[in-house]
Amino acid sequence: MAHQWRGVIREYIDRLDISADNPIITLGEGGTPLVEAPALAKLVGAERVMLKVEGMNPTGSFKDRGMTMAVSKAIGHGAKAVICASTGNTSASAAAYAAAAGIQSVVLIPEGKIALGKLSQAVAHKSQILQVRGNFDDCLDLARNLSANYAVHLVNSVNPDRIEGQKTGAFEIVDALGFAPDYHVLPVGNAGNYSAYFKGYLEDFNEGRIKRVPKMWGFQAEGSAPFVQGSPVKNPETIATAIRIGNPASWDLALSAQECSDGKFGAVSDKEILWMHRFLSNEVGVFVEPSSATGAAGLFKSAQQGDSLAGATIVVTVTGHGLKDAGWALKDEDGGDILPTVVNNNAAEVAESLGLN
Ligand code: F0G
Repeated sequence: MAHQWRGVIREYIDRLDISADNPIITLGEGGTPLVEAPALAKLVGAERVMLKVEGMNPTGSFKDRGMTMAVSKAIGHGAKAVICASTGNTSASAAAYAAAAGIQSVVLIPEGKIALGKLSQAVAHKSQILQVRGNFDDCLDLARNLSANYAVHLVNSVNPDRIEGQKTGAFEIVDALGFAPDYHVLPVGNAGNYSAYFKGYLEDFNEGRIKRVPKMWGFQAEGSAPFVQGSPVKNPETIATAIRIGNPASWDLALSAQECSDGKFGAVSDKEILWMHRFLSNEVGVFVEPSSATGAAGLFKSAQQGDSLAGATIVVTVTGHGLKDAGWALKDEDGGDILPTVVNNNAAEVAESLGLN
């Protein structure tokens, strides 16, 4: 019999670092679809590619998996307010979970650099929002400083509760497939999610649920690719604002995940990201925000550069919903506006416009 998904804490309580009497703040996150993407499999020459569609979470991104843990534990510690730095999705999630918990949220965002959909979520959930004259990395420094010195609880992914919640993405994939994919591909900003998936797979491996961990492939935008460069980037730039991060918080965790999994990091251009953003919506039927297409764009680039994926089973996490940053869908490949043709209320004219006969 079908049952209502109870959120990641209740579904995985015995595999998460949370005590049985801790209050649970949930909006029903997790349990997201693993969608077959035959068009993408064909494009990259793989046996099978699936998308883990994280845009289906309550606030439209993967952040909710970690936020249910972080806010639940904040409440367990008696916190009255949470704070985060964000390129948009973390703030949307923190704001929603704080609202559900009945506490205040404070968010610090880089001025003018977050998508409107995400800003509207933080406003809707009555967060105290400040736009900082600086980039995400500056906002994170500020949030850490404030949480160390004032009565606000930090819910960025430097808080291990976030990574702990986000590892459930890997659990769900293993539960759905019964095995681990050969490759797990995802976009990388702070590298919290990359590290979290590896943690989940590693636990599944250690507990005998899978025979090996997937190779972890993480992709960044060219203008903000510290892992590819091997050092922090001072002024990161990309249209993929969610991953416009120069000094990743989970640097060490991510490097060890890459090494242990025999994985890699790579970079793709904004143009390649936008091309894949359109391919996923046009050919696969999944609408994601541009940053979320970065993993698939990197997979395609790897295939084009000669990586053989023949016979491979691949899971790509697409991290956030397309409606978060909807404007990109309304631009053509040259950046021109796409506007539907206006017609009169007349069947013959409409048919002619559509080329029907
Ligand atoms: N994709 C989306 C849609 C994101 O919002 C983020 C991060 C990432 C990928 C990268 O994940 O940082 O764990 O490597 N967004 C953060 C935020 C930074 O503030 O919303 P990561």
